Amino acid sequence: MANIIDGKAISAQIKEELKEKVAVMEAEGRQVTLAVIQVGSDPASSVYVGNKKKACAYIGIRSLSYELEEKTTEEELLVLIGELNNREDVNGILVQLPLPSHIEEDKIIKAIRPEKDVDGFHPQSVGALCIGQPGFVSCTPAGIIQLLKRSGIEIAGKECVVVGRSNIVGKPMALLLLRENATVTVAHSKTKDLKDVTRRADILVVAVGRPKMITKEYVKEGAVVIDVGIHRNAGNKLCGDVDYDDVAPICSAITPVPGGVGPMTIAMLMNNCVESIK
Ligand code: GUN
Repeated sequence: MANIIDGKAISAQIKEELKEKVAVMEAEGRQVTLAVIQVGSDPASSVYVGNKKKACAYIGIRSLSYELEEKTTEEELLVLIGELNNREDVNGILVQLPLPSHIEEDKIIKAIRPEKDVDGFHPQSVGALCIGQPGFVSCTPAGIIQLLKRSGIEIAGKECVVVGRSNIVGKPMALLLLRENATVTVAHSKTKDLKDVTRRADILVVAVGRPKMITKEYVKEGAVVIDVGIHRNAGNKLCGDVDYDDVAPICSAITPVPGGVGPMTIAMLMNNCVESIK
């Protein structure tokens, strides 16, 4: 039976480490501040934003909350970002996605100064990751690297398969694994013979957005399986992109849903906020 990778415990450990760092900074008179912007009142976004602000409070990061109306214009949002970019007392800026359809997300992401881009979504941050230069890294894939390292799972030289090619997870995940000297394959919805590809993986990262799609036929015996998906099934129970009960018995380690990758995203956001003061 697989080792269960405990994202809740690992994220708690990271948050404790950050809390200590922030206390030292505070004693030196340095206050980390994150500006959190939400446009509209999408219930899922409100939960995420609430959790981010709670994590800030726990660690000792000051959060400034901007809850803007759904009808806020792109121009108004750009003006606010411009102000926050120029404020010396604001270290990080986070605009919760998705934005209402009348606002162009790419334009908003590009407007955030890369030095304050704690989500790691700015093209400059992504480009820096691509060529191995310093910059903020997207929180979910950065959290997965921490899960692997803190679970004592070697990455260098391993066959890693990432299923999914989103800008937020799949692509930065592949780049981070490459930076850790893995051999990386990115599979996606057009990949032929997906099972043959995923069965090569020593480390399989799944971010496809389809509940329980990955069954044991997709997984090599002894593989490490990382499940990025989160869905609510008919019985209102949470599940991932991986069919956990089917896959867990044949792999060496696996992340559960909930309590695997999910808690790491906020922990890494907090890490980026602390880094943003530098
Ligand atoms: N919406 C879903 N995930 C994220 C995230 O990591 N950051 C932001 N800003 N919006 C999101």
